[in-house]
Amino acid sequence: MLDPAAASDAAKDAAARAAVAMVEDGMRLGLGTGSTAAVMVRHLAHRVKAEGLTLRCAATSEATATLAASLGLTVEPLDAIGWLDLTIDGADEIDPDLALIKGGGGALLREKIVAAASDRMVVIADPAKVVERLGAFHLPVEVVPFGWETTRAHITRLLEKHGLTHRPVLLRQREAGPFRTDEGNLILDLALEAIPDACELSRGLNMIPGVVESGLFVDMADLALIGQPDGTAIELIADQTPEEDRA
Ligand code: A5P
Repeated sequence: MLDPAAASDAAKDAAARAAVAMVEDGMRLGLGTGSTAAVMVRHLAHRVKAEGLTLRCAATSEATATLAASLGLTVEPLDAIGWLDLTIDGADEIDPDLALIKGGGGALLREKIVAAASDRMVVIADPAKVVERLGAFHLPVEVVPFGWETTRAHITRLLEKHGLTHRPVLLRQREAGPFRTDEGNLILDLALEAIPDACELSRGLNMIPGVVESGLFVDMADLALIGQPDGTAIELIADQTPEEDRA
């Protein structure tokens, strides 16, 4: 039997392979960020070389752009491509409606911009990312450095309105000091435990001056490919049943 780390790696690999199988010659692609997306980029580069595919790629982070270019993929600024056929990206949590928490790697802003400029967003993940309700993973929120403590106070007030009292809002740190995103912003990680209404919280966060974006991706993912340790991948599509009719 595989140990948990090997099982998770095998599942990420299976999800990445399944997503790369969806890529067609001539596509304009958004490349996600994180460990699962990095595996996908490697498989994609392999397919491009093996089959001579012509693709145009936009990356969701400097890290992904560097990796993709090093593997021979053509990476262009999003604005040079304009619109994308498909974005393939990882996630930190995925709920039954395919609402996501993203941003564990700090790339949520570019990830959201790229996903919003895509006909389809396909999420790739291992089974540990699938949850009944979002919120156990700390929700990342990107904020501008100016007045960030005041912005944090607004966020705390908003959380209280959502019944989320006494929830820590933590400035993400690195050894050298506060973590900085590719845009030079800060990340606040919200320890929420459970999010009652992801859509409302997302809206509320985006209305706070100083908040650039939150890691809540609601109504953005079209499909999730959940890799399994045996090399297969399960497809999840958003639950279309109205909430009141669900069992
Ligand atoms: C990057 O900011 C994130 O949104 C990642 O896509 C997410 O954290 C998933 O990363 P892993 O594939 O490394 O778990």
